[in-house]
Amino acid sequence: MAVKKLNLAVLVSGRGSNMQALIGACQDPSFPAKISVVISNVPGAPALAKATDAGIAAETVNHKIFEGREGFEAALLETLKNYPVDLICLAGFMRILTSGFIAHWPRKIINIHPSLLPDYKGTNTHARVLADGRSESGCTVHYVTPELDAGPAILQKRVPVLPGDTEESLSARILEQEHIAYPEAIRMIAQKS
Ligand code: GRF
Repeated sequence: MAVKKLNLAVLVSGRGSNMQALIGACQDPSFPAKISVVISNVPGAPALAKATDAGIAAETVNHKIFEGREGFEAALLETLKNYPVDLICLAGFMRILTSGFIAHWPRKIINIHPSLLPDYKGTNTHARVLADGRSESGCTVHYVTPELDAGPAILQKRVPVLPGDTEESLSARILEQEHIAYPEAIRMIAQKS
């Protein structure tokens, strides 16, 4: 029996390696989701070309042309309405969403963050982990709530911080785990829905 797949909208701002990992996961016929659209708030973000190359609809909603967050988010909602969407996946999406936007999609927006939340919310996570001399870091897939990086965790992957690590080496080690964690989290959500 064919199982209904979750329709994903993937929101990006940059290079899109997590989006690429999701594209790869969706190529497996047994994966319980497919990507309806990739939306970037940054015109020309490398993720857009990667999505197009994979035959996925790619849209830009440039936040800079709107006065405030509400205008931008209204345009984002309009774009989302043109596609079937069950779950919004933030993948390196560098805009904070307002509670008004999030209320349209209760428990339907998830994010991947490069730290073991609740530790190291926000940006520059790897530099702060190294400065604090932590022996472990990782990544977290979590539901998005109005408070930044504070929504319930879906899953985490842990990695060691090694002697001599730099931001680049730590970030690369964590990114490998992000690419495993994000599809795994979507499988977990699909199983529950
Ligand atoms: C990832 O480290 C993700 O955890 C964070 O932003 C980065 C995006 O990388 N939210 P990419 O665009 O998916 O390559």
